[in-house]
Amino acid sequence: MKITVIGAGNVGATCADVIARKELVNEVVLVDIKEGMAEGKSLDLWQTAPVENYDTRLVGVTNDYKATAGSSIVIITSGLPRKPGMSRDDLISTNARIVKEVTEKSIKYSPDAIYIVVSNPLDVMTYTTKLASGKDRKEVFGMAGILDTARFKAFIASALDCSPKDIQTLLLGGHGDTMVPLPRFTTISGIPLTQLMDKETIDQIVDRTRKGGGELVKLMGTSAWYAPGAAVAQMAEAIIRDQNRIFPVCVELNGEFGISNTFLGVPVKLGKGGIKEIIEIDLDADEKKLLTDSAGAVRSVMDVLDGMKFF
Ligand code: NAI
Ligand code: 2OP
Repeated sequence: MKITVIGAGNVGATCADVIARKELVNEVVLVDIKEGMAEGKSLDLWQTAPVENYDTRLVGVTNDYKATAGSSIVIITSGLPRKPGMSRDDLISTNARIVKEVTEKSIKYSPDAIYIVVSNPLDVMTYTTKLASGKDRKEVFGMAGILDTARFKAFIASALDCSPKDIQTLLLGGHGDTMVPLPRFTTISGIPLTQLMDKETIDQIVDRTRKGGGELVKLMGTSAWYAPGAAVAQMAEAIIRDQNRIFPVCVELNGEFGISNTFLGVPVKLGKGGIKEIIEIDLDADEKKLLTDSAGAVRSVMDVLDGMKFF
């Protein structure tokens, strides 16, 4: 089995690294437009195999999509990352062209692949791949929710000085400042978060989570890659190993949560074949409003893409 990762930059290479270490498939193909980049990263990763003891083959190519033929999963990380002062939405025109092009080129060789989109602005790039591929929504979705919930969990673990392993939570909405972390759906080994933390601290952590991507951009001058790479590899693992994991994933909503024609993060069951189920949950009035506002924010960026007439 083969997984293709398009874009051999920070996120793409990290994700290939995690997938190889997990030995999810026999072969990971890295593709980049920059001459030598994918070849170099894949050679470096293959030379890690004898040290870390894995046998997943790593192949790197410059724009040669023949090498990606027959992939079970295609992961799209190609595009510009955020720089300080940029929102995720600022990336739309450049990244939409790139994401459209790489989807069209890769699908020719892997018509049955499941697509996981990572490039930003995430929700609208997932829409772009959905349009460019013409595939069913269960086979085209985006990674953001695992990363955003991981940030929420990490901040809670630091504040409570407890293990992040014991924290369960849920987060909905777009991958932007309107995302909706859900303290009411957060427990620490079954204990509701609200019993362990005061409201003011919870509110601060919710706010920091919403701005979690920007915090890292300010610190590093570019966006994060370790947690994003690991998060997308976890989605690939759920699919390849048919784990039926329940994660927040960006998918096209057609009436679920009262929202239509919008790509938004919601809980799904992920396993063989992609999304097996979208799980609708009961939200209170405040949570519903936040989700509706987030959908509106994503829809307005989708409208910008529609206005560009790429499709
Ligand atoms: P990067 O700049 O390190 O890597 C991007 C790579 O894409 C570069 O190597 C570049 O040469 C390549 N590329 C550009 N055009 C291409 C094309 N037409 N075909 C093939 N390769 C092409 O950027 P990084 O940090 O890896 O981020 C990648 C994307 O992921 C960005 O859009 C970033 O905003 C997004 N991102 C999304 C996250 C999420 O939660 N969904 C989290 C982190 C990053
Ligand atoms: C992140 O959240 C920028 O989407 C990227 O780290």
